[in-house]
Amino acid sequence: MMDVQTQKIETLLAEMTLEEKIGQLQQCGPSLVGAFEVSFEELLDMMFDGRISQEEFGKLMSTAEQDFHEEDLRAGKIGSYNGVGDALTANRLQKIAVEETRLGIPLLFGYDVIHGFRTVTPIPLAESCAWDPALWQRTARMSAQEATAAGVHMTFAPMVDVAKDARWGRVSEGAGEDTLLNGDYGAAKVRGFQGDDLAQTDALVACLKHFSAYGAGEAGKDYNRVDMSLQRLWEEYLPAYKACIDAGARAVMPAFNDLNGVPCTVNDWLLRAVLRDEWGFDGVTVSDANAIAECVNHGVAADRQDAAKQALQAGVDIDMTSNAYSENLQGLIEAGEVAEALLDEAVQRILKLKFELGLFDQPYRTDAEKEKLTLVKPEYRALAREAAAKSMVLLKNEGILPLQPQQKIAVIGGLADDAGQMTGAWAIGALGEDCVSLTQALDAQGIAYAYHPGIIDGSVAADAVNQAVETADVVILAIGEQKEESGEAASKADISLPAIQLELAETLVRTGKPVVAVLFNGRPLAIPTLAEQVPAILEAWHPGLEAGNAILDLLYGTVNPSAKLTTTFPHTTGQCPLYYDHIATGRPGGKSKFTSKYLDTPLEPVYPFGFGLSYTTFAYSDLWAEKRADAVRLTVTLKNSGNRAGEEIVQCYVQDKVAKRARPVKRLAAYRKVLLQPGEAVAVEFAVPFEKLGYYDQRMEFVLESGAFTFFVGGNSRDNLAETVDLRFG
Ligand code: GLC
Repeated sequence: MMDVQTQKIETLLAEMTLEEKIGQLQQCGPSLVGAFEVSFEELLDMMFDGRISQEEFGKLMSTAEQDFHEEDLRAGKIGSYNGVGDALTANRLQKIAVEETRLGIPLLFGYDVIHGFRTVTPIPLAESCAWDPALWQRTARMSAQEATAAGVHMTFAPMVDVAKDARWGRVSEGAGEDTLLNGDYGAAKVRGFQGDDLAQTDALVACLKHFSAYGAGEAGKDYNRVDMSLQRLWEEYLPAYKACIDAGARAVMPAFNDLNGVPCTVNDWLLRAVLRDEWGFDGVTVSDANAIAECVNHGVAADRQDAAKQALQAGVDIDMTSNAYSENLQGLIEAGEVAEALLDEAVQRILKLKFELGLFDQPYRTDAEKEKLTLVKPEYRALAREAAAKSMVLLKNEGILPLQPQQKIAVIGGLADDAGQMTGAWAIGALGEDCVSLTQALDAQGIAYAYHPGIIDGSVAADAVNQAVETADVVILAIGEQKEESGEAASKADISLPAIQLELAETLVRTGKPVVAVLFNGRPLAIPTLAEQVPAILEAWHPGLEAGNAILDLLYGTVNPSAKLTTTFPHTTGQCPLYYDHIATGRPGGKSKFTSKYLDTPLEPVYPFGFGLSYTTFAYSDLWAEKRADAVRLTVTLKNSGNRAGEEIVQCYVQDKVAKRARPVKRLAAYRKVLLQPGEAVAVEFAVPFEKLGYYDQRMEFVLESGAFTFFVGGNSRDNLAETVDLRFG
């Protein structure tokens, strides 16, 4: 017996013409048109390569309007939009779809709500350093409320691409180098975005991305090839996506990259055998922007028609802005080259999602008034501030922090005074002027300070800087990256701080004043010199709307730092990819010459995965492990050995000492955030299920082998207590 929704879908499908079916697969990105001859993309390239200045670009943009292709919409040729971010426009287009097309099928509106909509929260890499699924879910719920109030139905998030190479610009958009953290982060985001019922008007469909292994692009270059063993794919990359599917994500975006030579967009093994047959995913797949057409560039499609054919056969439902489907599917089906049943499958899944969202009954979920009342509510601003303070990592503190109210401070560095830079990458719904810079926060809190940008016209203004800090008791140095230096198409071959910023830091250190470096960046940076030179470093990342206030909360100790790194900070770019869960090799790096290391670089990172300081200290003792029926249970005593309350992220790692395939020297198996009062001690318990101890052998059989397993527990991936257990399975 067919359920009512399925019956409605089948009835609607039977009425649809071939053109109308193809129209449902078409996702339109509003094109910018204006008083310029070239396309918007060409204009962007002209700006990036300097053929026009940013001012000229801005002036041309001021003449731009968005073309929403209403005539195609009226003709039933558009099923969804990417990039409509206001209720007025969304409702206007929805009205055309519902009232002026033959069948009145409502539109689906997709948007990149990656780390907030208007209330922009810390970039995902930053927020991942909170190690806090409850927080991740809360900020996602807030983003969903804002975005749906602006007419959005689906976000192209969470991004859970495990990223072990800091040269890649998109490391900023995920939860770092660890598999478990990316999975927990993504699952929490899915729950937060979608809520308990997609038919609720503030439910936002989660479209997990980029499926799969986009973070493993060779040499950290964006869009580059991904070539790895199936063992590594299944052990290190796929679990994070699977966690999002298990959390109920209703959409998936295939990645731009190829996987072992087959682009994900036309990879039927990935999109059908794994995603649908093995994982049981029955939602919608949305190609990445123009990705179907780009299969021609990959060299696996002869032309756009071939690309369209392969993508539909592989299981891509929605064509995001390439037009390969709208241009070719009718001809392919009429020529019998593609079965119409494949098209029907895709249409059914798209219609199903629209029914799940309740769009047929309630196509208008919001209006301009609701949008206005919802954006940047005070409670959202408070949550953004909380999230930022929980995301910033205290990397070094030689008795300088927390600052005392009576201390005179000087603030040096343009990033301290640039609210727009605080949004970070992929904050397309945010307004820079909504953000609070460090200087604005100081002003708002009535804290006196001297300020100087430090670098003028590409040079350190040494005299002016010396003068600015002359009467200061402590100097806050704001350095790092512009928001454009991370995110998409922002890979770097050098992740060290620019020489001019190091020169500024040295200039300040020479004054003899204590310097607190506040880093604003979207990826791990190679900062060995800075780490040696200055007595305190706060990794602020690009912290979003409440940047300045959250930084002051931490610098003055209103909030005790608790965040820990989710990516490794190398000494030099040359070490990339550098990550904690590496394998030992036959000659593990060490003192003697003939071991796996570099001649010119230390073996250890500047700061290891899982590292972060607090204003209090924590002591670990009495680690104890025992085998239970289907898990290993561990207990450790954790004590707050300092003089103020604080949260510690207790991390539990495991190593399979002997296996048929070399196993990581350690891999995160569990973690827990614990709040302790000064002097308080607790027993922290973990249960590591046996399936976390297995791996894939050379025949891709998942095996669980008896033998010795060492468990490491501590406050980061380097400093641990260890306990080895001999486990017998089966
Ligand atoms: C971009 C990104 C993807 C984003 C999409 C839609 O190219 O790869 O992450 O969601 O386009 O804007």
